[in-house]
Amino acid sequence: MSQWIGTANQKYASYAMEELRRIIPGASFAQLAAGEVFLMTSPIAKTDTLSAILRQEPIFLRHIQPVDRLIEICGSANDLDELSAMIRHSRLAFEGKRAAVHIRRSSKSAFHYSASDTKGILDAVLEEIGAEPVVQQPDIILSIYAAADFLYAGFGAPRDMLSDWPGGAVRFQREEGQISRAKFKLLEAERSFSLQYASFRRALDVGAAPGGWTSLLLERGLSVTSIDPAEMHESLSAYPTFTHVKKNASEVKLKEAAFDLLVCDMSWSPMLMCRLILDLQYALTRDATAIITVKLMHRKPLQTIREVKERLETGFRLLKAKQLFHNREEVTFHLQRK
Ligand SMILES: C[S@@+](CC[C@H](N)C(=O)[O-])C[C@H]1O[C@@H](n2cnc3c(N)ncnc32)[C@H](O)[C@@H]1O
Repeated sequence: MSQWIGTANQKYASYAMEELRRIIPGASFAQLAAGEVFLMTSPIAKTDTLSAILRQEPIFLRHIQPVDRLIEICGSANDLDELSAMIRHSRLAFEGKRAAVHIRRSSKSAFHYSASDTKGILDAVLEEIGAEPVVQQPDIILSIYAAADFLYAGFGAPRDMLSDWPGGAVRFQREEGQISRAKFKLLEAERSFSLQYASFRRALDVGAAPGGWTSLLLERGLSVTSIDPAEMHESLSAYPTFTHVKKNASEVKLKEAAFDLLVCDMSWSPMLMCRLILDLQYALTRDATAIITVKLMHRKPLQTIREVKERLETGFRLLKAKQLFHNREEVTFHLQRK
C-alpha cells in the first residue's frame, strides 16, 4: 500500500483520477482541493506504483508526490519540529544531495507558517545532515502539501514527481514586450518534452497570430513561416528569417519537405485541426517534429484525445500528450511525422 498527493490543472483532477484508476486497479481517491488536488491510496507499494505511473504517464496528472509521513497539524511550532524530525530520520536519502523544499497549502489549512519561514527552518536541518539546500536543479525534493488538518510530506527525485516545480506549477517570467501569454505554452512544451528548438532549422507555425510562438522560434534562431489570416505583431518583421503567409491554412501552397518543425496553436475544433495538419504533411521532412495544442471542446476530454490521436496517427507518431500547466481548456501533443 502507498499514498500519494496528485495535482491536476483546475477542473481536471477527475480526469487525472480516471487515468490513474486504469493504470492502478484498486486505487481509491479523496479530494483535498476541489478539482485540483487529491489523495490517492494505491493498493501496491511505492516503487511499483511509481513505475506504473512513469510507464504510462497520465495526461492530466501534473504532479505527484509520495506521502512518506502524515502529520496532524497542531497549529504550533510542533508542526515544524515534526517536519524537521522527518528529515533527520531520512538522513540517508538526503545526505550529499542537492535538496529542494517545496511547500504548498490549501486555503483552509490550519498550518500557520509561511512557505518561506518553513523552508528557512527545513533548509537549516538539511544542512545539518549534510545536504545542500537549493532552489534549482535539485537531486531530491521534499514536497509538503498542507491540507486543512494534515501535512502530507514525501520526498523523491524531480522526475518521479513529473516536475521540478512545486505542484508542477511552472512559472516563467513575463518579458518586456512579450507578444502573448501563449508563448509560455511553447516554452513549457520545450521543457516538458525535452526538446531543443534551436536544433531545428525551419518551422511552420499554423494559426500563429499575434505571434508569441513565432517570436520564441525566431529568438531560438529558426527561420519561421507563419500562417494566419490575422495580423502578426509588427516587432516580428525585424527578423529577416520571418515570413508571414496571410491566409487561411487550408488555402496555402508550400514547398514539399521544407520544414523540420511544425507548431500549431489554432484553438479550433479538434477534428478540423486534424484535417488541416494532415493536409500540410507534404510540407514536412520525414521525422519532422510537431507540437500541437488540442482544444477540449466538450465534456469528454479523454474521448476527444483518443479521437484526435487516432486521426493524427495516420501521418504521425504520438510521442506524448500532456496537459501542461499553461494549457487551459486544452492539451499539448508532441508528435513525429511518420
Ligand atoms: C490562439 S491564437 C494563436 C496564438 C499564438 N500561438 C501566439 O503565440 O500568439 C489562434 C490563431 O489561429 C488562427 N486561425 C484559426 N483558424 C485558422 C486557419 N484555418 N488558418 C490559419 N489560421 C487560423 C486565428 O486567426 C488566431 O490568430
